[in-house]
Amino acid sequence: TPPELIRNFCIIAHIDHGKSTLADRMLQLTGIVDERAMRAQYLDRMDIERERGITIKSQAVRMPWESVAGTADAAGPRGKESQTFCLNMIDTPGHVDFTYEVSRSLAACEGAVLLVDAAQGIEAQTLANLYLAMENDLEIIPVLNKIDLPAAQPEKYAGEIAGLIGCDPEDVLKVSGKTGEGVEALLDRIVEVIPPPVGDPDAPARAMIFDSVYDTYRGVVTYVRVIDGNLNPRERIVMMSTKATHELLEIGVISPEPVVSDGLGVGEVGYLITGVKDVRQSRVGDTITNLRKPAERALGGYRDPRPMVFSGLYPIDGSDYPVLRDALDKLKLNDAALVYEPETSVALGFGFRVGFLGMLHLEIVRERLEREFDLDLISTLPNVEYEVTMEDGTLVEVTNPSEFPTGKIRSVTEPVVRATILVPSEFIGAVMELCQSRRGALRGMDYLSEDRVEMRYTLPLAEIVFDFFDQLKSKTRGYASLDYEPDGDQDADLVKVDILLQGDQVDAFSSIVHKDAAYAYGVRMASKLRELIPRQQFEVPVQAAIGSRVIARETIRAIRKDVLAKCYGGDISRKRKLLEKQKEGKKRMKMVGRVEVPQEAFIAALSNE
Ligand code: GTP
Repeated sequence: TPPELIRNFCIIAHIDHGKSTLADRMLQLTGIVDERAMRAQYLDRMDIERERGITIKSQAVRMPWESVAGTADAAGPRGKESQTFCLNMIDTPGHVDFTYEVSRSLAACEGAVLLVDAAQGIEAQTLANLYLAMENDLEIIPVLNKIDLPAAQPEKYAGEIAGLIGCDPEDVLKVSGKTGEGVEALLDRIVEVIPPPVGDPDAPARAMIFDSVYDTYRGVVTYVRVIDGNLNPRERIVMMSTKATHELLEIGVISPEPVVSDGLGVGEVGYLITGVKDVRQSRVGDTITNLRKPAERALGGYRDPRPMVFSGLYPIDGSDYPVLRDALDKLKLNDAALVYEPETSVALGFGFRVGFLGMLHLEIVRERLEREFDLDLISTLPNVEYEVTMEDGTLVEVTNPSEFPTGKIRSVTEPVVRATILVPSEFIGAVMELCQSRRGALRGMDYLSEDRVEMRYTLPLAEIVFDFFDQLKSKTRGYASLDYEPDGDQDADLVKVDILLQGDQVDAFSSIVHKDAAYAYGVRMASKLRELIPRQQFEVPVQAAIGSRVIARETIRAIRKDVLAKCYGGDISRKRKLLEKQKEGKKRMKMVGRVEVPQEAFIAALSNE
């Protein structure tokens, strides 16, 4: 297809504002999926995505659209005869954990449909994605969705959007993905206002990878957008960040099933199969060029995926350890951001320390391990990555509290995020209070309309990964929305709190916390454990300590558990049975020093955090 007839776009929206429904409607209207083959949310392929209603992996679909709008010559007068344009819709993942993938999908487009629920208005994710789109110089098409809803207030929100992006409220399109109303006009608008791709067809090939998906049968399927030159089957290509070379076994486009093509030229979007087996060999953001005639410079914007949140994952049944290892190896093929290494814990046995992009990523991985590999897992409290500088200048990276050094420490840094929070103005106070209690710094505040504000904060990542969003929701009666992106590191007054049973440290409960929160953490854990751990033959002190300084203490009182006393005079076989039973119970006990702790106690203490 000549570039003049191509339009590459994506849809950006807050979660649940109807992106998938609109995308489905477009597939139907352009005729590439017929009514019968249409199943709800055609583009969300993974089961988990479907159940959770979120989009994790992006896809790119090619759709033909006949339109009189637009013109073959972008600069010339509007063409009168209709032409068939080639629309490439690039789906973007919809959650904060995947910001980098979103930014690469946006970089593959010239325009973005900014989709806003006409009953909800702009939300935090709408803004965060809009800012990313603007950084990528995309043409923005503002659209209000769900106008069929009785609660829709299109006039009000058209004003809000117009104020935000600086257009006329009249220019905000109004559609319903559900009924299809206005969607044809939207497709025409896409053709009309989104610029066609520009690139040099004679230059050495450069194509950007915006997604990379592992397929059991085909190996890795790489989604690319060609910027310059062209890619052809059977050529040898080079991944510019790693210099690895591969043969292009197959090239094609998705429409909406894969269709083999004989090459991709300037501005085209499609998929490549090279026989590589691991998505790490085909990384999002990397540039592909031709081995015979390589480009000198890669496209900008490549970044290694960087895990932000770490947690220990342990099988509840220790004999499942090999299954867990194989399962992680399999998931890794499909997930370039997943990193892990073996780890052992006194309390939990053999497991892995796993790095994730964020809490949603953690939940998804955990759920897939449990569901697809039939594993029962226990995970330790998630933590972020800290950098500790010692008095002598050595630098220690800490992804596990047990690695926190004990010597003389000069400083500790922790990662922070730039957060965008949107709330009705009546909740400004509540949000400020919450953010303050989480060590947040207010960076700015803007009114989007009379009664809604955008608040921008810098917050430590560690303070928001756990229950921040739930708290925010409950303090604003569900009205607040949140989005955030990594924003470097800052110095912080952090300490490691250890939990000790009769003087022995329980590694799984060590935590790195802010100095002001250390006492509360210590007291909470000590009292929790006192309740969860059964009495022993001797008294057991439960202590929380920073270094050698004890900050909280509880005591589990001793009992004499004389099971045989009950059977006094009874027959011997009954006594034996009881002893057997007690032995069985012991198998599920873990020893911390001399103290027997049932595994359930660890699980309970870690889970209801
Ligand atoms: P994520 O993939 O989770 O970000 O959601 P999404 O933005 O793709 O939203 P989705 O298409 O799943 O729609 C969310 C909900 O809104 C679903 O229950 C849809 O049925 C409903 N919905 C979507 N579009 C419309 C519409 O035009 N009108 C009405 N009434 N409901 C809609």
